[in-house]
Amino acid sequence: MRLLIAGGAGFIGSAFVRRRLATTSDEIVVLDKLTYAASGANLDTLRANKDTRDRFRFVLGDICDAATVAELVADADAVVNFAAESHVDRSILDSSAFLRTGVLGLHVLLEAVLAARARDAKPRRLLQVSTDEVYGPISDGTSVETDRLNPRSPYSAAKAAGDLLIAAYHATYKLNAVLTRGANTYGPRQHPEKFIPLFITNAVDDQPLPLYGDGMQRREWLFVDDHADAIGTVLDGGEAGGTYNVAGTHECTNRQVVQSVLNRLNKPWSLVRTVPDRPAHDRRYAMDGSRLTALGWTPRVSFEAGIRVTVDWYRENEPWWRSLRDADWDEYYERQYGWRLSRSQDA
Ligand code: NAD
Ligand code: DAU
Repeated sequence: MRLLIAGGAGFIGSAFVRRRLATTSDEIVVLDKLTYAASGANLDTLRANKDTRDRFRFVLGDICDAATVAELVADADAVVNFAAESHVDRSILDSSAFLRTGVLGLHVLLEAVLAARARDAKPRRLLQVSTDEVYGPISDGTSVETDRLNPRSPYSAAKAAGDLLIAAYHATYKLNAVLTRGANTYGPRQHPEKFIPLFITNAVDDQPLPLYGDGMQRREWLFVDDHADAIGTVLDGGEAGGTYNVAGTHECTNRQVVQSVLNRLNKPWSLVRTVPDRPAHDRRYAMDGSRLTALGWTPRVSFEAGIRVTVDWYRENEPWWRSLRDADWDEYYERQYGWRLSRSQDA
């Protein structure tokens, strides 16, 4: 297949591209705007590798740019959309880019797929990568794909709007759309603003680790390569119009996550500081993943192994994450954590 991968220079998208090129004969075009969250280096090995470089092309561009998108979609057999602003805390500070890319950008992709189909009658598949956060918090049990959506941050509201657009285009135009909703994902190459990489990299520098509220929020964790493979499984075998939860392998509290990270780094708990909570911080996410496992996907990486790999990767790749802590980082860090750390307490 010829795949167009939007947002393929980011954390999960670049893992998907690497794994797909390694395990199939697909040709891949990545369309990515290279926002602050992306690292061009994420795709460097593919450009350098003679087995993959002839099947891989990078286009710098925005999914909101209809002309660029139309041209690339016309040449593709399928489109996978990872492009999004992905950090909840930033969406609380300023949500405009979240809505622009998450809603208007997805709309551009959907219209391009429809227009290309009208020209050549090819039933191009569009897979939209979404999140468990659209379900909102669940105190017991697990969210299933048919549950009502209850987004509570600007980030998850933009993602939920995308989910609804996908459903509407499938219902109205019989567009060959599929949707995945993934759990909290971790692993190498995640931007250091996110919880696990932030705590690893701050701990390496013996800086405070800002734990929101009581730290008893519960998440399901999924290793990045497993998430990437799940998306491949749905792309290849998912039912048109279908939604698939990609559940994590390990549910635990944020405190337990921090302890695992500190154990691997051999750093003390005294680095952890309780800071004022994220507004509308969802207490727990958990999903029923049986619809996806029925397609044949099973995760391979346990949380224990994944944390080892992740911590070691950040220790061994300091230039990668230090280069992302640029001028924008300092401004963001001060805005997000300056006042919180000034009110912090022992955790
Ligand atoms: P990321 O922030 O690392 O990557 C997003 C990528 O999209 C970046 O390369 C960025 O440059 C690109 N991008 C942003 N706006 C764009 C635009 N307008 N045009 C083109 N490219 C653009 O995010 P991630 O963690 O890899 O997440 C990828 C997708 O998976 C997102 O849609 C996110 O909502 C979803 N998701 C993430 C997680 C997680 O835990 N990280 C879990 C479930 C779902
Ligand atoms: O659940 C899937 C989602 O997981 C994805 O859709 C998002 O794109 C991804 O960013 C992630 O969202 P979270 O808000 O769950 O991830 P984050 O890494 O920001 O936070 C994970 C947990 O850690 C959450 O309960 C908040 C807490 N946290 C986070 C940060 C950054 C802290 O306690 N302190 C922090 O400084």
